[in-house]
Amino acid sequence: MEKTFLMIKPDGVQRNLIGEVTSKFEKKGFKLAGAKLMKIDRALAEEHYGEHKGKPFFEELVDFITSGPVFAMVWEGENVILTARQMMGATNPQEASPGTVRGDHGLTVGKNVIHGSDSAQSAEREIGLFFNESELIDYNKDN
Ligand code: CMP
Repeated sequence: MEKTFLMIKPDGVQRNLIGEVTSKFEKKGFKLAGAKLMKIDRALAEEHYGEHKGKPFFEELVDFITSGPVFAMVWEGENVILTARQMMGATNPQEASPGTVRGDHGLTVGKNVIHGSDSAQSAEREIGLFFNESELIDYNKDN
């Protein structure tokens, strides 16, 4: 089954949006395969956002994502990578449609509440960066 990596950013955790956001994905029908509330260190932040290294907002991005706890998650389900991106809305909340996580709860492109993998390749890479295999539930095996 397809898996993706989603992360509620420090602004979302601080604003008590964990329940609201996870509920949205649960209600859609996706299964939560792993989750942890954690503080990201600089090395992990720089690796996770490696593709943005050199961009003008990179330092600000790393500063922000390491500024407070994040809620890292692995979700699974049919076509979950693309569907989760659609449910999150555009990166810039001002362009995100109402009904999406960023459209309903985000204000700025930096503080945009949630991150989600943008492809199968990034999902695999990001899940591996944040989770060990033993931290993930295999519903096919266990249920
Ligand atoms: P995210 O999906 O986590 O991936 C990269 C992040 O960079 C993005 O969400 C934004 O929060 C952040 N970011 C900050 N400034 C910009 C910008 N000017 N353009 C695009 N992304 C930005």
